[in-house]
Amino acid sequence: MIEMLPPIPENFALGVCDYPEHVPWDQWKQYPERQKQLGLTYVRVAEFAWSKMEPREGDFDWQWLDDAIEALDAAGLRVVMCTPTATPPAWLIRKHPEILPIGFDGHVRNFGSRKHYDHASLIYREHSRRITRAVAERYGRHPAVDGWQTDNEWGCHSTTRSYGGASAVAFRGWLEQKYGTLEALNQAWGNIFWSQEYTDWSQIDPPFNMPTDRNPSHVLDFNRFASDAVNEFQAEQVAIIRELSPGRWITHNYMMHFNEFDHYANSETIDFASWDSYPLGQVERAPLTEEEKVRWARTGHPDYVSWNHDVYRGLKGRRAFWVMEQGVGQVNWAPSNCIPVEGAIALWTAQAYAHGASCVSYFRWRAATIAQELMHSGLLRHDETLDRGGQEISRMEIAGRANGETPARVALLHDYESSWVYDVQPHSQNASYIRQTMLFYSALRGLGVDVDIRHPDSDLSGYAVIVAPALQLMGAERAAHLAGYANETILVFGPRTAYRTPTGRVQEDGQPGPLRDLAGQRLLNFDGLRPGLTVRAGGHEVETWAESYEPIDADVLMTYDDGPLAGKAAVTRHGNVVSIGAWSATLVTDVLDVLLGEAGVAAMRLPGGVRVSRRGSTEIWMNFDQAARQLPDGTEIGPVSFQFRG
Ligand code: GAL
Repeated sequence: MIEMLPPIPENFALGVCDYPEHVPWDQWKQYPERQKQLGLTYVRVAEFAWSKMEPREGDFDWQWLDDAIEALDAAGLRVVMCTPTATPPAWLIRKHPEILPIGFDGHVRNFGSRKHYDHASLIYREHSRRITRAVAERYGRHPAVDGWQTDNEWGCHSTTRSYGGASAVAFRGWLEQKYGTLEALNQAWGNIFWSQEYTDWSQIDPPFNMPTDRNPSHVLDFNRFASDAVNEFQAEQVAIIRELSPGRWITHNYMMHFNEFDHYANSETIDFASWDSYPLGQVERAPLTEEEKVRWARTGHPDYVSWNHDVYRGLKGRRAFWVMEQGVGQVNWAPSNCIPVEGAIALWTAQAYAHGASCVSYFRWRAATIAQELMHSGLLRHDETLDRGGQEISRMEIAGRANGETPARVALLHDYESSWVYDVQPHSQNASYIRQTMLFYSALRGLGVDVDIRHPDSDLSGYAVIVAPALQLMGAERAAHLAGYANETILVFGPRTAYRTPTGRVQEDGQPGPLRDLAGQRLLNFDGLRPGLTVRAGGHEVETWAESYEPIDADVLMTYDDGPLAGKAAVTRHGNVVSIGAWSATLVTDVLDVLLGEAGVAAMRLPGGVRVSRRGSTEIWMNFDQAARQLPDGTEIGPVSFQFRG
């Protein structure tokens, strides 16, 4: 198993995002001392400040930022510097409107908010390198600058993919390089279907705004192309920062449950991952039922939050990560914007620590008094008094703890490309990659086990159990890699595993294609259940999806009790390999519970919103419910609270 590198910083620290460009200097200069007094160590600055840094092309103004960094340094704070490329200024857009991205509807996405650029625009790439060089030359060696954040939230507001302009041109070049000939491309995408065959590269467009469904292979390749463009965009910035800011680390603040680009490939050039956690806004947007949304409206959903901790810890092997933006109250962007219950901000901080974060940096210092986010909470209210979140932080005693390792023995496999093909053809109204992966992830966390989330092609040695909830794309190489673990590790596959080849076509010889010998079964039928329609398997209620298998060498562990698949296998086992075809939270929990026991991983059924995670030799028990709960050892845990043990 890959060793965890030393965390940055060594002991758990807190930080904040602040905007010296938003507040008059005489007012702002009081902030660093107050930040220090609140127990903060890091302050992230300047990720949107391009128009202030360079008001006209080539005309730079650094004074305000020099002063801010000096003031932070004088207060003993450490600076996280950013490249400001999330917000190309008006003068640049007027000069080069072709930088603007094209939306899915085919219209230009205009200046006036943020992220208004096409990652494939060569003109914008040049300006991105230019401003990165300017900032890194100015601050790269400043003693107060500890590290860097590239841009801000790649792909935020669905900007990974631009459906025309520079991306359309670059996509054609990308395809030509990949396929060499149009015959090969037509074959790979199955373009004989509906006369989609191309006879000239110039005929190919991004897959947008069509009368009906898009070709999944076309979508898959476009998503791969757009993902590569984001990754190259970042790599160019990273190379410049490495040159001009020696000894400093580089990170990026990724988003919650965001899958528009391949984060594994994206993180190759940076030192560690960070992510932005807004648990309440996340609940509003997550594929949860109305009842669940009400239940978690003021605390966040424990598993939807921790999924991200586990993803970002596993992005580069097993490595400590940061929460770069931790919400401290309400957001402004969800359909409804509740405030958290007392205790939630401390609980989120403890949860981040429990899952391996080495720093939690709050968003933001003072609530914005201007523009789009003036209804968003900060640690300070508009009038600069300490708001509820700030007060909670002032009472916390988490900072300074050792940033130990997280000892997971279970790996859950996560694949961005599989999510793209899944979501372009969900085949059942409630089915999605995220819901299906969360079905398995929540079952594991509800059984009290620690989980690493890893890429399917990474080194998975040392795990006792490997769970692949929704690995639709399967080639011979991936199958052989996974088969290599089957002697000593229990492997669990979820519905629709290996449904397609890496080009997005189905397996010509049926499913699960190259996994057939390993799984010892073949797929018979699948049933995309409509909302409200359920069947039963082994006594469990099955919703959303049911698929049946014909055992070849496998044993049948459960069959469907009723419905069109009655009597057919819903769960099979071949040696250490278990295939689960029925979408059922209770069934998945029962099967995993038995398998964990067999693998020697201690599991227990946790009550309601109780979760546990381990860091070093410490167990962190957390209760996300607004009522006290009893822990398995008979002791009680208060509402919305946590306990460190050991
Ligand atoms: C994040 C973003 C911040 C701020 C915040 C508001 O997505 O990085 O700049 O907009 O959301 O919740």
